[in-house]
Amino acid sequence: MIFKERQSRDKGVIEAGRLMELHLYPGNQCNRECDFCTVFGAPKGWYTEYTSEHLDATLRQVLLHGQGAVKFFGGEPTLNHENVIWAIAYLREQGFQGAIVIYSNGIQADRLLEVLESDPLDKTTASLNYSIATGDGAPQMPLSSLRKLEDYEQANPGAIAIGHPDIVDSGRGVDPFTGEETRPKVAHRCPHCYPVLKTNGQFHACPFAVENSAPHFQIGSIQDDPETVADNFQTFLNWLDTVHEPFAIEQDLPACTVCWQHLKSLPPAQFKTTQSSSV
Ligand SMILES: C[S@@+](CC[C@H](N)C(=O)[O-])C[C@H]1O[C@@H](n2cnc3c(N)ncnc32)[C@H](O)[C@@H]1O
Ligand code: SF4
Ligand code: SF4
Repeated sequence: MIFKERQSRDKGVIEAGRLMELHLYPGNQCNRECDFCTVFGAPKGWYTEYTSEHLDATLRQVLLHGQGAVKFFGGEPTLNHENVIWAIAYLREQGFQGAIVIYSNGIQADRLLEVLESDPLDKTTASLNYSIATGDGAPQMPLSSLRKLEDYEQANPGAIAIGHPDIVDSGRGVDPFTGEETRPKVAHRCPHCYPVLKTNGQFHACPFAVENSAPHFQIGSIQDDPETVADNFQTFLNWLDTVHEPFAIEQDLPACTVCWQHLKSLPPAQFKTTQSSSV
């Protein structure tokens, strides 16, 4: 397959109250219903549009220079591609210079390519669902879509990457997963992903657990000032290292299983709250 995995970047980078990366999450509406999906993606899932209020909060929270990255998570972004194209245009008009990544299953290839092409800075790339691109663990995307995406990657090397094959125990989890036995599923250590801003205005500490409403993940809202949200995220990372990981090791549990099934055994970190004068 022509698509390459992307190197993961430094974790936990925070500069002057801004995060190096932020995921945006408008809901779990999807044209697939993968049996391992972390967010319970489904056609009946929810979708709430990106708005200027939501994107203004993004622009306050993420590094605006070339090192910053905004990642459109879901659900399936191509189902609402006009809203995504509008959001990318808005971020660029307001001065965001960093990378933009669209997580997509690629089935609606034409729409996905339209989204990539819409970026005036030409710095929007895609990351494809490994299972749907390869057919290992989910029905493969239509070959007509795959060919279009392969041709685009051939002509624009690096524009379309493939996601990691690892399957973590979050959301629908690993039990129903039907892919290759060799794909990694167990790790005591959390991958320390960057957090998520949901279109309901809440910051959630983890994209893999974004549909988990436990207090352990609630690191603020767009009413909080950005430094508070960044501090709370740092507090969450410290909690992962000092509370979560020792528990996972002691109980011999995969990291995400701890978040999904054992949080009642773990006290949440103490998060701060503030009201921003700019909202
Ligand atoms: C939740 S999906 C949303 C975007 C899009 N629908 C897609 O599938 O790429 C984002 C990424 O999460 C990955 N993912 C979903 N469930 C997972 C699991 N249990 N473990 C690891 N990655 C998972 C998908 O493969 C995809 O790369
Ligand atoms: S992994 Fe992606 S394509 Fe599969 S159900 Fe979840 S959101 Fe949809
Ligand atoms: S261990 Fe918890 S915080 Fe880390 S990726 Fe898994 S669900 Fe998210």
